[in-house]
Amino acid sequence: MSADRTEGERLVELAKRRGYFFGASGAYGGASGFYTFGPQGAALKSNVEDAWRERFTVQEGNFEIEAPTIMPEPVFEASGHLDGFDDMLVECPECGTSHRADHLIEDNTDIEDAESLPISEVEDLIADHDLQCPNCGGRLSGEPVEDFNLMFETNIGPGSSTPGYLRPETAQGIFVEFPRIKEYARNSLPFGATQIGRAYRNEISPRKSIVRTREFTQAELEQFVDPERDEPDLADVADVEVTLYPASEQADEDGSYVETTVGEAVEDGIVGDAWIGYFLGIAQEWYQRVGVDMDRFRFRQHLAGERAHYAADCWDAESEVDGDWIEIAGFAYRGDYDLSKHGEHSDDDFTIFRQFDEPKTVEKSVVDPDMSVLGPEFGGDAADVQSALEELADRDPSAFEGETVRVTAGGDTYEVDVDVANFRVEEQTVSGEHITPHVIEPSFGVDRTVYTILAHAYHEDEVDGETRSYLSLSPTVAPTDVGVFPLVSNVEELTARAGDLVDDLRESGFSVVYDDSGSIGRRYRRQDEVGTPFCVTVDRDGLEGDGPDSVTVRERDTARQVRIPVESLVTELRAVTSGDRSFDALVETYDLVAPGTDA
Ligand code: GLY
Repeated sequence: MSADRTEGERLVELAKRRGYFFGASGAYGGASGFYTFGPQGAALKSNVEDAWRERFTVQEGNFEIEAPTIMPEPVFEASGHLDGFDDMLVECPECGTSHRADHLIEDNTDIEDAESLPISEVEDLIADHDLQCPNCGGRLSGEPVEDFNLMFETNIGPGSSTPGYLRPETAQGIFVEFPRIKEYARNSLPFGATQIGRAYRNEISPRKSIVRTREFTQAELEQFVDPERDEPDLADVADVEVTLYPASEQADEDGSYVETTVGEAVEDGIVGDAWIGYFLGIAQEWYQRVGVDMDRFRFRQHLAGERAHYAADCWDAESEVDGDWIEIAGFAYRGDYDLSKHGEHSDDDFTIFRQFDEPKTVEKSVVDPDMSVLGPEFGGDAADVQSALEELADRDPSAFEGETVRVTAGGDTYEVDVDVANFRVEEQTVSGEHITPHVIEPSFGVDRTVYTILAHAYHEDEVDGETRSYLSLSPTVAPTDVGVFPLVSNVEELTARAGDLVDDLRESGFSVVYDDSGSIGRRYRRQDEVGTPFCVTVDRDGLEGDGPDSVTVRERDTARQVRIPVESLVTELRAVTSGDRSFDALVETYDLVAPGTDA
């Protein structure tokens, strides 16, 4: 690692130079908090999304949907985002720069969870610590701290009569469509729905390149369960080892990590819900597969004040970069919050019918209003009064204990004789009941995962007496699978054969880069730096020997090369890129090419 630059700075420089990501709209001065993924980054990100889809949608047997990114205001009234999705804003009186007040406190004091403090306390802390504007040094003491809603507002159609918002999380697209998705799940719990897509938050101060941006990609899974009946297949992940940082350990000055297994963590109650434990186990294995360094990874439980308005319990997956821990996923037990809210605010049905094991006889309060009295008395409102009486009997039978009963319909109040309402309690046989499912939500930040993978993959070593830098990306996510080179570019026999190999490999589904420019050593370095796991070189020795034509295959991390017959190339590359075979196994099977040919 270069001593003079932080891991994050080095990564941002490499990302720009090699086409992973860079600030967007640079031609017009840029817009803070927006990034473009270049050719390498877009391929890496798309591979991460595919790997997520494969594990969390396909293998789990879940449904994937794609909902719009703009949704109308009532969605966010119901979800609570309109009222409560705020960060604390303080503006510098000197230069006018906006800052997140809680971050200023966390960055300049020992306080770790300033987000959970009331505004007045945050104002006091700014004054007590005489905090200054990080941009110009102006004093922030005495400046008001205000709630700032993070949603981007827009108008749906001309005019301003129908406000809409860019979704701040993909989750709401799934919740809002629950009444239709449940039909595809044949109205039967448990089932999961997933969505991978863009979300938008008008961050007060975007930071750390693609870690905190204003437009980002989420991969979210909403697992709908019957809390009394449904259990996950915990045995599938019970032995998965995890590093946990529970809230109790965070609160304790001498607190430490708990190294345990998913099974034990759930059994010991460290992770309070089996579904959360199940998803922590799957996530642990998935992060390992896509190349996160698991020595720089942990699951941290949210402190009580840190939890979102909907979450009963929440754990974050966190990765370490530059000594800081970054939240890269959240695992929240959301209870019935979301579906209940949408049920209350909309006319749709956000429940599931739960069949009893045996039909039950229950007492039910009913009315059978005498319409020959209600009709003349209430005219056109009689039917609404009837419905209101029926709903009241079901909800609050005690309302019928007097001689008259009051109901409201269409904003008006009506008084009805209990005898006319014909209130009675009946015995009914019922086969089930409507319940609002509970939700467990694993929510992944795709951009942050990409950032972590790149940071953890960066290595420097010495090859042929020279320092080289390389990205040890997992073949699962590497933007390019194979580099193909003719050893020299001016020999037709070699370039033609290399071109044929490129076609063969692409037809077999590999993503391939062809390169014939510069020395072979420089071409290897270029591919090392973008993380291409294997390079194939066509040389004269491989075409002119007595046996079948052969090529060299070079492994990125160790720079070892083996000579492989061309006829076996596709099979062997498929085996090593899928992880079915190690490069060591190739070394045992084929001739190792002497060192010193990497220059
Ligand atoms: N859906 C959870 C989040 O966006 O943070």
